[in-house]
Amino acid sequence: MNTQTTSKKMKNKVGFTLWFTGLSGAGKSTITDILEKKLKEYGLKVEVLDGDIVRTHLSKGLGFSKEDRDTNIRRIGYVASLLSRNNVISITAAISPYRDIRNEVREMHENFIEIYASCPLQVLEERDVKGLYKKARSGEIKQFTGISDPYEEPLNPEITVRTDSGTPDQRAEEIINFLLKNNYLETV
Ligand code: ADX
Repeated sequence: MNTQTTSKKMKNKVGFTLWFTGLSGAGKSTITDILEKKLKEYGLKVEVLDGDIVRTHLSKGLGFSKEDRDTNIRRIGYVASLLSRNNVISITAAISPYRDIRNEVREMHENFIEIYASCPLQVLEERDVKGLYKKARSGEIKQFTGISDPYEEPLNPEITVRTDSGTPDQRAEEIINFLLKNNYLETV
């Protein structure tokens, strides 16, 4: 399974977007960071659009109503589509809780790979890395995804990575192997 160790360099045949979706704390950003580093080491052009970061500039001022989330996702989708059509690999890491908007941004793309970072809510609440689940349960944070706001699981994601087992590094490797197997990437 360790396909990528056979070569130090890779080429992407087309631009594409790796679109992570999943609950807060499910590991989207962690896996994205690892993927970004690995893909850059292979000599590939990569840009990351992370929800937490995008909300400090491109989506500054937006909240967590459905309308604001949809606007956030459309903006991220638009930028990702511009990048990927110019042969860049874009990786997005936003909860993107609504199926209809995820499908809308999919339609903006030629090459769209939806990756579901799947982890049981109970595990996320136990981990509660940012302490947000506790605040959501107590009502201090309103409209919190998975607690007091919806999360619509993808029905047919290209990839599902379970993040309650294995390591983020293993999950990043699995994704790279998918990309090699499906001819998005090739070793050179
Ligand atoms: S999205 O719904 O529009 O895709 P996005 O990924 O940009 O969300 O932002 C989610 C991050 O914002 C979470 O990881 C968390 O750190 C923070 N956050 C603050 N309030 C909320 C909330 N009500 N629901 C979800 N995440 C929230």
